Amino acid sequence: MRKVLVTGGSGKLGRAVLRDLVEHGCDVLNIDQAPLNTSICKSVKVDLANFGEVAEAILGGIDERGGPFDAVVHLAAIPAPGLASNARTFANNVPGTYNVLEACRLAEIRNVVIASSETVLGLPFETPPPYAPVDEEYYPRPESAYSLGKLLDETMAAQFCRWDPLLRICALRFSNVMNPEDYAAFPKFDSDPVARKWNLWGYIDARDGAQAVRRAIQADFTGFEAFIIANADTVMSRSNMSLLAEVFPGVPTKGNVSTNGTLLSIEKAKRMLGYSPQYSWRNEVAAKS
Ligand SMILES: NC(=O)c1ccc[n+]([C@@H]2O[C@H](COP(=O)([O-])OP(=O)(O)OC[C@H]3O[C@@H](n4cnc5c(N)ncnc54)[C@H](O)[C@@H]3O)[C@@H](O)[C@H]2O)c1
Repeated sequence: MRKVLVTGGSGKLGRAVLRDLVEHGCDVLNIDQAPLNTSICKSVKVDLANFGEVAEAILGGIDERGGPFDAVVHLAAIPAPGLASNARTFANNVPGTYNVLEACRLAEIRNVVIASSETVLGLPFETPPPYAPVDEEYYPRPESAYSLGKLLDETMAAQFCRWDPLLRICALRFSNVMNPEDYAAFPKFDSDPVARKWNLWGYIDARDGAQAVRRAIQADFTGFEAFIIANADTVMSRSNMSLLAEVFPGVPTKGNVSTNGTLLSIEKAKRMLGYSPQYSWRNEVAAKS
């Protein structure tokens, strides 16, 4: 059984991650400034802006909530552009990630997963993507303070790995996180091809996002790697080729483009992590009708 510390476990993706890790036999501690409204695991109030609090938690020094931890999963952040001022978003997210990575370094925790974001791929694609499906092969194109912060998180993580050849940090570039109750709105997306073009019509079921986190913890390599984490299909019933022709004319395709397969390539996560998404909005909507 692995002992795992999760930051931001009180949030939308975090609750699914805590549940998945506990169900797979991990002993989990959540640290978050917000309370965890379930008893699935222990939770401690920590502000990631405060290095002392973060270091105490990750070094395993909190009374009755001690370590040592085998792995740290860092999800806590203001999770999108426009939820707070740019300056607040940046000032909350980037130093928070530094504090977590630095505390992991001091604690000699060499198995770290951090939440990055699909936004680094160039969302909302006012400038069209270089090709579709997009993948991890081109340098990030952040278009917001939030996304710039995620790129800096990834950059810091790569440098921490350069400092310590035994360290692994997986940055998971999650697509737009969905819970099953969100799927009722999906069939309406088809009527407007532009409404969801901002992320190439992608999404990630929180439960599959949690699977990706667990597989990243179990991965078998050292160093830094970034992975796009999305579901296997788009949010649309219309075909990808007709969507691309209408909304992104002139953007070349790369490899095979299936009818409704994700345009946020998950091939690297499949290959290196064994990621295998289990859910689709299509099945959830069909099951309810
Ligand atoms: N929701 C999405 O669509 C989406 C998409 C891509 C990436 N992500 C990333 O995934 C992660 C989780 O997102 P989410 O949707 O669960 O967000 P959420 O807002 O539901 O949860 C984030 C949690 O982080 C905590 N937090 C934020 N700042 C903190 C701080 N300074 N100290 C302690 N706790 C703090 C919050 O209290 C909250 O519980 C984030 O890093 C986000 O950027 C989310």
